Order: sequence, then structure tokens, then C-alpha cells
Amino acid sequence: MSRIYSIPGQGNGPLIEKKSVSDFFDRRAEKIKTLGPVKAVIYQDKQSGLAEARNAAEKFKLLPLLRLDGAQRVLDVGCGTGRWVSDLLPISSFYHGIDACEGLVAYAREQFFLVPNCCFTVASADNFSLQSIGEKLTFDRILCAGVLIYLNDEEVLRALRCMANALSPSGLILLREPMGVDQRLTISEHYSDDMEQIYSAIYRTRGELEALIAKVMPAGSFRLAGCGDVYDEPTLNNRNDTKQQWLLLERI
Ligand SMILES: C[S@@+](CC[C@H](N)C(=O)[O-])C[C@H]1O[C@@H](n2cnc3c(N)ncnc32)[C@H](O)[C@@H]1O
Repeated sequence: MSRIYSIPGQGNGPLIEKKSVSDFFDRRAEKIKTLGPVKAVIYQDKQSGLAEARNAAEKFKLLPLLRLDGAQRVLDVGCGTGRWVSDLLPISSFYHGIDACEGLVAYAREQFFLVPNCCFTVASADNFSLQSIGEKLTFDRILCAGVLIYLNDEEVLRALRCMANALSPSGLILLREPMGVDQRLTISEHYSDDMEQIYSAIYRTRGELEALIAKVMPAGSFRLAGCGDVYDEPTLNNRNDTKQQWLLLERI
């Protein structure tokens, strides 16, 4: 049970356990009945209205960044409960959500059963290909919101490679992540009073994430088309050491 800040120059701190992450999300899927589909993936279980306010502010900020005009195929990596489907589908031609958690995918499938141009697949963010998720065509847009914090660095590199391989020419990848403000913070098997669950995650600094991105998406093939804070309203950020940020990557 620990919260560990990495000391610059002394390595990147402990790894997080895949099993701890998958147990956490299996339990979140079970809790959808009581929490609803937004809190299940945004958390803040005991804070009335905060998850919903964050959901609205995030979509207000991020949706325009995707530059969707109805013609694009969208891949949502780590789609969770399908929180983005109703916002993305009306302005895209096809939506495919993938997630490692069977319970969350089952919920999303049930919610969007028979909705045209929409499907979900159980798949790991760091081990998928177009073929493995049953697709023939690449995606014009890839959204990956709040997922990379549950992956160790090697897995993040693999996930970024999988996304790059699934992306169309001139396509965009939008990453939304809670990031360490000054330092990387690793939370390993930490009991959260708010969620009443054991939690593990890695809050990388933006510099660390950009360094990983540069290894997979070099300057000649991708450019950083933008980055910034997700919330303009200070009360939506209730932590000092981490902050929700976004990065937009464009294939060139
Ligand atoms: C904080 S939730 C965000 C869900 C969704 N992106 C959203 O914004 O509502 C994180 C999601 O990442 C998924 N996830 C965690 N590790 C994953 C992995 N290795 N591969 C695929 N999905 C993963 C979880 O199952 C969960 O649905």
C-alpha cells in the first residue's frame, strides 16, 4: 500500500500489477448498478456532482479537438462504459470501443445494442491490431482517455504502437490523462477511502509521456498538434499533485 513519488535521476519507481488493475475494473463494472456509468469510470464516488461536472467539462474541451464532421471512423481505446459513444456517434461514421474489462464491455454492449455503426470488443490496449479487433479499415481518430495510467512504461510503448498501426494517414490520436504535476507519482495497491477499493496507477509527468510518445511516433511521422489542461474551472481539480491534461498527436 503506497504512494511513491519518483526522484529525478533515480529510476521510475515501482511497476503496477496487471492483476490489481483488472480486479479494480472488474469491481467498478459490478458497481455500475449503484454508481451509474459516469462515476464508474470517472470516480469521485462520495462527491456529489463532481464526476458529472468533470464529464461535461471534459467533453466540452475535448470534442472540438477531434475535428469530426460525420465522415470519420473513431476508435475508443479503453472505452469503459461507453461514456463517449453518444457524443461521438452523431458526428462520426463509425465507432468501435475496445476495453480489457469484460464487465465494462458487456455493459457498453447492452446500452448500445442495435445502435448502428457502433461496436465493442474486449481487447488489451497494448496488444491489439486491426485484424484482432475484426477491422479491415484504419481509423481516422483514436481517443484514449484515462487509460495509460494503468499501464507500465513498456506497455504504454506497446499501446502507442498499436494505436499508430491502427491510424489512417493524417489521422489524429487524442490522449487524455491525469498527469503528475512536478513528479511522477506511482500509486501501488493503495486503499482509496473514496472508492472503497484498492487502487494502482502511474501518474507520469507530461515530459515523461512525451518522451515515450517520441520513441514510437518520431518527429518525421507524427507531430504534437496541441496539448493543455482539461479543466478550466479550478474546483474540478481536487488534487495538487496530479492534473488532467490532453495531448493531440497528428500523423504527418
Ligand atoms: C478511467 S477508465 C476510462 C474509461 C473511458 N476511456 C472513459 O473515458 O470513460 C479506464 C479504462 O481503461 C481500461 N483499461 C485499463 N487497462 C487497460 C488495458 N490494458 N487495455 C484496455 N483497457 C484497459 C479500464 O478497463 C477502464 O475501462
